[in-house]
Amino acid sequence: MVFRYPAPVTERARPIVGPDYLVAGRYRLQSKLGGGGMGAVWLATDRLLHRDVAIKQVLTTQGLSEEEAQEVRSRIMHEGRVAAKLSHDHAIAVYDVVLEAGEPWLVMEYLPSRSVAKALALVDRLSPIEVAQIGAQVADALATAHAAGIVHRDIKPGNILVADRGDEVGKVKLSDFGISSGANDATEEIGDVITGTPAYLPPEVARGARPTTASDVFSLGATLYTAIEGQPPYGFDEDSDVIVERAAMAQITPPARSGPLTEVLLHMMEPAPQRRPTMTEARNEILTAAFGPGTAPYILGAPVRTEDGTIPAWAARNSAAGLRSPHSSPLPRPQRATAAAAPAAPQPRSKGFDLSALGPNAGPLAVVIGLLIGLLIIIVILVVL
Ligand SMILES: Nc1ncnc2c1ncn2[C@@H]1O[C@H](COP(=O)(O)OP(=O)(O)OP(=O)(O)O)[C@@H](O)[C@H]1O
Ligand SMILES: [Mg+2]
Repeated sequence: MVFRYPAPVTERARPIVGPDYLVAGRYRLQSKLGGGGMGAVWLATDRLLHRDVAIKQVLTTQGLSEEEAQEVRSRIMHEGRVAAKLSHDHAIAVYDVVLEAGEPWLVMEYLPSRSVAKALALVDRLSPIEVAQIGAQVADALATAHAAGIVHRDIKPGNILVADRGDEVGKVKLSDFGISSGANDATEEIGDVITGTPAYLPPEVARGARPTTASDVFSLGATLYTAIEGQPPYGFDEDSDVIVERAAMAQITPPARSGPLTEVLLHMMEPAPQRRPTMTEARNEILTAAFGPGTAPYILGAPVRTEDGTIPAWAARNSAAGLRSPHSSPLPRPQRATAAAAPAAPQPRSKGFDLSALGPNAGPLAVVIGLLIGLLIIIVILVVL
C-alpha cells in the first residue's frame, strides 16, 4: 500500500518510497544499496525482464513551477537516452529512464560491488599497481564516452565500483553515467551552483567554468591520487568552501606515494585544462608507466589483481580474497626505465632451463656448476694426456 501526504510546495502528491514500491509499473524496489534520502540507490527487480537492476531517483522537481519541472524532466530523459547509448565493459550500463509520480528515475545495470570509497575506508590506500589497473580501465570507458559526446562530471571514488563476489569478482565499472550530467544541467538552469564533488574539482570548474572532457581527466587523476595517497589532493577540511577555494587556486599537495604513477597523475591534474592529456592519452600513459607500452590487452577487461595475480583483499567479500578470478591472467611485469623500446607485451615463458626460476640462489649455484664443469674438463684432459 502507498501512503500519500500533501506536498509542501507543489500541488503534486509525493509517494513514500520504500521496499516493495513499484516504480513506473515495472521496477519493484527490494533494498537500499547506498546513498540516502531522495538520492538513494535501490536494488530492484525488473518485472518484465526478470532481472536485478539498480535504480535511483535522479532529482526532485518538488518546488519547481510546472514549466521548470517539465524542462528538467525532458533534459534528464534526453541525458539518460544519450548515456544509454554507451556500451563499455568498464561502464555501468544505463538501461532506462522513467518517470514515477512525475519524478525522473534512472535504471542501471546492477553490479554486486564495493565502491573504491568504501574500499578506502577499509584499507586507507591501494597499491600503485592496483590503482593503475583501475585508472586504465576507467579511462578506457571515459575515452569511449568522450568520443560519444558524453562528459561524466562526477568522477570520484564513490562512483568507481569493483565487483566483490560472484563470477565477475574484481571487475571495475564506473557508475553514474547519465546522472551527474543531467542533474547538473538542471541545476545550472535553476541556480548558479558549482556542481561536482569539491575534493575532485578541477581549478577551472571551481572558478565557475562548465565541465568538459578535460575536467573529467582532472577528476580521474584526483580520484586515482586519493586512492594511492590515502587522502585527496586538496587535503581535508570540514568546510567544503575551503576545499573549493583550494581547488580554484590549484593548491595540490605533491604526491608522495604514487611511485611510477607520479608523473602521469601530475599531468592529468595540470591546472591548465589544455595542458592535460586527452582521456585516451591518460589511459596509455597509465599503462606505460605501470606495466610498459602495449600492455592494454593484459589489463583492460580483466579483473583488478595484486602483483601475484590474486583478487585484492579489499575487493572481495566472503572468501574470494586471495583467490584467482576465473578471468585472471598474470600481471605484466613493470618495465625498467631502460626498457622503453622493449617488446610491448610480457613474453611467453621459455621452455628451456630458466636459471631465474631458482630464485635468489641462482647466482652462487651457477658459479658452483661452472667450477665443477671446469674441473671435469681438466680431469678429462689429464686422463687423455
Ligand atoms: N549500479 C550499481 N550497482 C550496485 N551498487 C551500486 C550501483 N550504483 C551505486 N551503487 C551503490 O550505491 C552507493 C551509493 O551510490 P550513490 O551514487 O547514491 O552515492 P555516491 O556515488 O557515493 O554519491 P553521488 O550520489 O554523489 O554519486 C554506491 O557507493 C554503491 O555502493
Ligand atoms: Mg554515485
